[in-house]
Amino acid sequence: MHDDLITSIANEWWYYNIELAPGLITKGTHLPRVPMMPRMLLRNASLRGMDCLDIGSMEGLIPTLMARQGARRVVASDALPHCEKKMQVVKGIYGVDFDFRQIGLLYDLSTKLKEEGGFDLINLSGVLYHVFSPMHVLAGIRPLLKKNGLMIVSTNVMNRSGHTLEFNARGHLQTETNTFWYHSVPMLEYLIRYFKLVPIDCLYSPHSEVNPANFAPGVNSGYMSVMCRAVDEPEVQDEDRWAAASRAASWEFLSLCNGPMLSGQPRSTITYAGELAGSAPPGLDLMLAIDDPARIVHSAGRSQDAHTLRLLDVS
Ligand SMILES: C[S@@+](CC[C@H](N)C(=O)[O-])C[C@H]1O[C@@H](n2cnc3c(N)ncnc32)[C@H](O)[C@@H]1O
Repeated sequence: MHDDLITSIANEWWYYNIELAPGLITKGTHLPRVPMMPRMLLRNASLRGMDCLDIGSMEGLIPTLMARQGARRVVASDALPHCEKKMQVVKGIYGVDFDFRQIGLLYDLSTKLKEEGGFDLINLSGVLYHVFSPMHVLAGIRPLLKKNGLMIVSTNVMNRSGHTLEFNARGHLQTETNTFWYHSVPMLEYLIRYFKLVPIDCLYSPHSEVNPANFAPGVNSGYMSVMCRAVDEPEVQDEDRWAAASRAASWEFLSLCNGPMLSGQPRSTITYAGELAGSAPPGLDLMLAIDDPARIVHSAGRSQDAHTLRLLDVS
């Protein structure tokens, strides 16, 4: 690609900081110190030969890394093709190939993406706070995950007990106009488990001056990224009889979460570094997990942990 074309594209609006030529890095919306925790978790998954789906890909930082980490097939997606031209440029420069799907609103993805088959890993990061109905979104995505597959769920949370959602009334959480809900940490964990996923790893970044875009002084909130393992119904039902009964009988679950597709998925062999072997892991208690200093990320210590993609990065 000609240098002048790269320079002109580099001067457009970018979501990520992406190195388009040695030393030429786009000015994304995130400061280089803001951590990108789904990326940090993703590198612990063994993607070689795996099928991966990324939801809300913008210019394709995560799909590029999925491909560079050896995925067999990568599907990027977004509501609109607003970044597709820049995504094509990134693919060319980084020597990777992946497909892009325009999905509109994030609801009913098992219908919209039914031709894609199942995925070993799905990244659902930075989108649940953008939708009116997070459960509707999860119900649509879960059937696309292979049995025993991995899903990264990352969103804004309230660091408090109880099963609640905080609404961004009058923009008191942040002024971004597409941002509606922050889940309490146990609420996020409950939704994850309700949709037959078990949290096996997580990272938490308290909102602070590190990222002025989402820092609300006096609000105990943060960004949480959770690596989840898909489990089968018999493995989860004894733990919460109400949830099992709800999955079996509620009109919402039965209508919005495609049971035949979910139960018809092949079994994935995807592995995650550090995960204990064995079936039906009890998983993490996310409220306890975020008190573990090893899981708290205040800022990105290096560009590979941020929203910055450099030419030599593979993860
Ligand atoms: C905050 S960005 C997150 C990008 C990326 N997933 C990440 O974690 O870095 C939000 C993404 O969701 C998409 N998005 C935002 N609101 C949406 C909505 N209501 N329906 C569908 N997609 C939406 C945006 O186009 C964008 O790709």
